[in-house]
Amino acid sequence: MGSSVVRDPSLAPGGKLKIDWVSQHMPVLGEIKKEFTKELPFAGLRVAICLHLEAKTAYLAQVIRDGGAQVAVAGSNPLSTQDDVAAALAESGVLVYAWRDAARDEYRAFLHRVLDTEPDLIIDDGADLVTLIHTERRELLKKVKGACEETTTGIHRLRAMEARGVLEIPVVAVNDAYCKHLFDNRYGTGQATWDGMMRATNLVVAGKTVVVVGYGWCGKGVAMRARGLGARVIVCEVDPISAIEAIMDGFGVMPLGEAARVGDFFVTVTGNRDVIRGEHFQVMKDRAILANAGHFDVEISKPDLDRLAVSRRVVRPGVEEYRLADGRRLHLLAEGRLVNLAAADGHPAEIMDLSFGLQALALRHVQERGPELGRGVLGVPREMDEKVARLWLAGWGVSIDGLTGEQAEYLRSWRL
Ligand code: NAI
Repeated sequence: MGSSVVRDPSLAPGGKLKIDWVSQHMPVLGEIKKEFTKELPFAGLRVAICLHLEAKTAYLAQVIRDGGAQVAVAGSNPLSTQDDVAAALAESGVLVYAWRDAARDEYRAFLHRVLDTEPDLIIDDGADLVTLIHTERRELLKKVKGACEETTTGIHRLRAMEARGVLEIPVVAVNDAYCKHLFDNRYGTGQATWDGMMRATNLVVAGKTVVVVGYGWCGKGVAMRARGLGARVIVCEVDPISAIEAIMDGFGVMPLGEAARVGDFFVTVTGNRDVIRGEHFQVMKDRAILANAGHFDVEISKPDLDRLAVSRRVVRPGVEEYRLADGRRLHLLAEGRLVNLAAADGHPAEIMDLSFGLQALALRHVQERGPELGRGVLGVPREMDEKVARLWLAGWGVSIDGLTGEQAEYLRSWRL
């Protein structure tokens, strides 16, 4: 089975403090931890996790371990792994294969190390592990009971596999649960993206023009928080309905070709590739800031930036300056990787309490119901969403009303 591979085990005390801090702000996971410790739903099982390896993820891994599993974790992005957290997690008895700044081949090797543990269950973020067991590691398919997927981009990949008839296991689309995308994608990405951009640049947002490309769940949050910071916000979309939503929410909408000329900050959140590319770089203002909060680092075309630039240098930690032939400078944050995780600590703990509460319960669901789930991408049962919501409200000390018997009956009736 081997032992963990982390950058520096001596960083563990700092990582432990970070995990302790978030665990105090994640009461939903705290309740689930109590449940798991008592009932041991994963006794004797192996769980492979590929998530952004920061403190909230470490706490989730520990909760699943407390449920009886042997857990192995890899980071889902080379720039989001925090080495002190990785060290602390490894010290706590979870197998960890990750370090920040992993090169492409190291990153892939870490995913394989996690799969070498021969997991029964998988938690994925972007579908890398599930893709690998359907391609290079097919021998594992007979053992894996199922998986849970964290993000929109992962769901896109899984649905593509399902449509082609090649997805051989059940995968719960945790991203699609209400308590995930309504809050994590919107309020989590909204706040954390600006946290990352402000930490990276130390620049003011008020009075600037912010261009948000993609007005899905994440884009809505990024645009909303940019407005709150005092920016003028322009939204670029390809979907006409999302464009109307942006207009009704009070934002300017125009094609990126036009917005590129006026933006001070650009944020991509589409889940698509080459969204900001050469033709846009050609018309941007000097010192425009480029950031991505979508899952992969393909939304801002780095090949086009490399082609157009006459020089490139790091001007602040996490800020690269590309100088174009006419002297304009474009500043790319965090190598075009998710800026909220690469330049900050990711979503707030209270938001990830909802997402990871769902992950923990969905994993148990796959474990208990695996064989009857069949194969394909599955929704999160409504009761699970409601359980997480109720635990979260309780953690915040908020009570809500309930239906009277007559009201419940009225809502079920159809006669006049
Ligand atoms: P979504 O599907 O709700 O929204 C994406 C929007 O982008 C859609 O409205 C679509 O029409 C638009 N779009 C697609 N191609 C475009 C193009 N070329 N130009 C303009 N608009 C375009 O997806 P969601 O949930 O907002 O996620 C977006 C990305 O963010 C995904 O990659 C997802 O995995 C990732 N994500 C990142 C998080 C983070 O922590 N940074 C958290 C959650 C999701």
